[in-house]
Amino acid sequence: MAREASSSSGVGVSPVDAATVDAGSGLGASPVVSVRDLRVTFVSRDRTVHAVNGVSFDLAAGEVLGILGESGSGKSVTLRALMRLLPVGQTRIEGAVRIAGRDLTRLAGKALADFRGRTIAMIFQEPMTALDPVYTIGAQIEETITRHEGLSHRAARARALELLDLVQIRSPARRLRAYPHEMSGGMRQRAMIALALSCRPSILLADEPTTALDVTVQIQIILLLRRLQRELGMAVIFVTHDVGVSVEIADRLAVMYAGRFVESGPTGAVIRRPRHPYTEGLLDSTVTTERGRRLPAIPGAPPDLRALPPGCAFAPRCAYAEERCTSDVPPEHRVAPDHTTRCVRVADGSLWTAAAP
Ligand SMILES: Nc1ncnc2c1ncn2[C@@H]1O[C@H](COP(=O)(O)OP(=O)(O)OP(=O)(O)O)[C@@H](O)[C@H]1O
Ligand code: SF4
Ligand SMILES: [Mg+2]
Repeated sequence: MAREASSSSGVGVSPVDAATVDAGSGLGASPVVSVRDLRVTFVSRDRTVHAVNGVSFDLAAGEVLGILGESGSGKSVTLRALMRLLPVGQTRIEGAVRIAGRDLTRLAGKALADFRGRTIAMIFQEPMTALDPVYTIGAQIEETITRHEGLSHRAARARALELLDLVQIRSPARRLRAYPHEMSGGMRQRAMIALALSCRPSILLADEPTTALDVTVQIQIILLLRRLQRELGMAVIFVTHDVGVSVEIADRLAVMYAGRFVESGPTGAVIRRPRHPYTEGLLDSTVTTERGRRLPAIPGAPPDLRALPPGCAFAPRCAYAEERCTSDVPPEHRVAPDHTTRCVRVADGSLWTAAAP
């Protein structure tokens, strides 16, 4: 049956009840996700991989946070840590994660399974991570709804139909009887989104859900997600390595490098005036020259996460690096009330003073 995109109950089309979220947390206007110094290390006999190295952030109800970064920067591992989907026994997780007011580390068994559906759900780049090839789309959504809510078959089917309609799948009644392999890539994505929303989660995690699609379908799915996010009032964490996509969807951006958020702030501010050399490099690599050629991406490769360099992990690739950059990990420095960077040279004003860049 349905694999990783968890879902459970709830009327598919109703907005998330903010009061329910708050009641669950007992924290009034507190963030729905609060992460402090999250560290994820994969430990096996022959290697130790430091995938996430001290990530902290808050996400408000109804807010969209985009996490932007190159391949291997720890984006997916961060999301999976929030879902507790990392391999037990090989993973060391440190730090504090509170979701809807609950301590994630204390959840187990049925409470964790329910939490994954009702409070937080995830969609993936590859829909078959979540969809089961041997059951129809309808059967998977219905099973999820009945399992969590104990609804009758008829009521679950009605809700599944409503969900397919919500994600704008044409001829939804017919599509309920389709198997995943009978659908196009874009339609499978929509079906996975319907499955994830069947529990009416207050938080949706989206891990590069459009990367595998062609550009036209990509735009359609982005617009659909943005509309659903607004209509349902969900908080969303959207992972991507595409600057254009992140600008389209995110209220706030976090730029990730070697398992750390090196810059974080309102999307417009980060894009207009990046405050970390890595962000600048990412943005430059998306700019095309007059002849229509893409400028080269940042030279060099991300560090080996088995042996992170001391100090700023970006130093080996940074055009502004100085010796002192390699002594300590740059602490978070506030360049505006809601905009932070981890660059010692921006922090001390020796790089990009008030009027620059
Ligand atoms: N189960 C695992 N065991 C060991 N290492 C892992 C495991 N899962 C992920 N990693 C490593 O953790 C690092 C971060 O991986 P992650 O999948 O989060 O990257 P990402 O930013 O999502 O990249 P991409 O854009 O390619 O999806 C990588 O070096 C990856 O090889
Ligand atoms: S701390 Fe130094 S190496 Fe790191 S981004 Fe800033 S200038 Fe570059
Ligand atoms: Mg990934």
